[in-house]
Amino acid sequence: MLHRFIENRVRQALTRVLPDADPGTVQVQPCPDPRFGDYQVNAMMALAKARKLNPRQLATDLLSHLDVADGCEPPTVAGAGFLNFRLKPAAIAGVLEAAARGEHLFFVPAEKPRVIVVDFSSPNVAKAMHVGHIRSTILGDSLARIFRLLGHRVITDNHIGDWGTQFGKLLVGWKQHLDRSALERDSLAEMERLYRLINAECEKNPALLDLARQELLKLQQGDPENRSIWQEMIDDSRHQFDTIYDRLGVRFDQTLGESFYNPRLNALIDELNRRGIAEESDGARVVFFPDHPELKQHPAIVLKRDGAANYTTTDLATLAHRLETWQPNEIVYVTDGRQQLHFKQLFAVFRRWQPEARVTLAHVWFGSILGEDGKPFKTRSGEVIRLSDLLDEAEDRAFKVVSEKNPDLAEAVRREIARTVGLGALKYADLLPNRQGDYVFSWDRMLALNGNTAPYLQYAYTRIRSIFRKSGFTPEQLAAAPAFVLAESDELALAKQLLNFGLVLEGAAREYRPNFLCNYLYDLAGLFARFYENCPVLKAEEPARSTRLALCELTARVLREGLDTLGIETPEQM
Ligand code: ARG
Repeated sequence: MLHRFIENRVRQALTRVLPDADPGTVQVQPCPDPRFGDYQVNAMMALAKARKLNPRQLATDLLSHLDVADGCEPPTVAGAGFLNFRLKPAAIAGVLEAAARGEHLFFVPAEKPRVIVVDFSSPNVAKAMHVGHIRSTILGDSLARIFRLLGHRVITDNHIGDWGTQFGKLLVGWKQHLDRSALERDSLAEMERLYRLINAECEKNPALLDLARQELLKLQQGDPENRSIWQEMIDDSRHQFDTIYDRLGVRFDQTLGESFYNPRLNALIDELNRRGIAEESDGARVVFFPDHPELKQHPAIVLKRDGAANYTTTDLATLAHRLETWQPNEIVYVTDGRQQLHFKQLFAVFRRWQPEARVTLAHVWFGSILGEDGKPFKTRSGEVIRLSDLLDEAEDRAFKVVSEKNPDLAEAVRREIARTVGLGALKYADLLPNRQGDYVFSWDRMLALNGNTAPYLQYAYTRIRSIFRKSGFTPEQLAAAPAFVLAESDELALAKQLLNFGLVLEGAAREYRPNFLCNYLYDLAGLFARFYENCPVLKAEEPARSTRLALCELTARVLREGLDTLGIETPEQM
């Protein structure tokens, strides 16, 4: 929280020393080495370099115009021109007191709230969601929550794949082989069966492939029977997706499938042609990027040779629709890394088409989930793992962990705890690694009660809660507690970590990396454990007792809010 105070003061001082400089370049970061201070500003180096000044001299000049005495010890210039800041304990105590009164939870809403569309999950109709979709769903949901917490207006949009050539085969399968009772039991499994069946038959029987093409064409031309079968496939699939979203606590503001944009495609292609953005090439319409270092090898097709629009065309129309409907400042797409080229092309075509648009476009991509053998994560028999089975298994395994830990609780209570612990462990394991790497899926690791896991953080939370319950203190009493005194180094270290909740949230939002928040919470729990080991709470004298109880309560609140922002629930006991 106090990083904002430092940032604003440094920005003001900068306008005195370098009136032409952009104050936005000043960003306060935690000091990598706490021996030098709590926060650091390194902007002077780049600012000096651009002006051929001596960076240490610039930093020193800035200090002569900088007054941060109400929050910090006198700042110092270090190394090549870093500014280092150390907070005064009284200033830290002041922020904590305000938090104890419920005035804030160590973050402030964005000064300029943005409108952000988050496009995530986006599974395909007539296919079960598999583990590949889990990362998009979990990552996207957590990003949406982070943006929302920081005060932005977020629109979550599930861009489901409900259009495409696969429907030709599906329609043939549906008409020739549908097993109604199987459909009622597990609609996605039945649709997958139909697709596989026809797909295999088409290999041997070209006439069937032709039939599939005719069925597809009829669908595209609006044939009532095919439309109604297609609609049923969508409804059944969405019903099954919704069951999973409910279990995961994931919510969408919009579910506009690809088909929603069909009516716009012709006009879009006409416009790209008319304005010379798309050119004819081999019978297709293509956008070339001769000056783009990477895309000059990869022109984007917007109309295929057979006259059909494709994924890029639909995504362009989707973009236009979003701009018109919500006027977003930013659109974030969460998909796996194999779609990087698609999004580079999409963004490049869009910039040519609408060069005046100010919207920020971000492709937030992620790597794969691997099995413990290092190969793509599959079931023992080598099949793709279904998301619903994975969620069941997470809950079952967590039930064992919870039952071992707390055999005396009633079974229903243990089941409910196991639900939050199992799903929490699964989500956290997915959010913790750097998203651009692959990660190895391990039940034992994600469910461990010690280590950087959700169960560890959930357990830390329940322990703090129980300390607080034993104290007999209420949040009201806490709000009215005497001034905080932070005397011990473990108290100070914990307090400073609490202070950085907002800074970490902002970083996670800026770089689309919820793992920053995971690691922050893990460190917070560790600092709490050290504090609790070295500083008696309930047996301490006043004012230490109230200060320490407040530290407990505030740590619990940040843990709960932080986990909630990752989409993870916190049980009250474990
Ligand atoms: N349905 C696509 C898939 O499963 C993902 C869609 C991502 N969103 C987008 N606007 N292209 O691969």
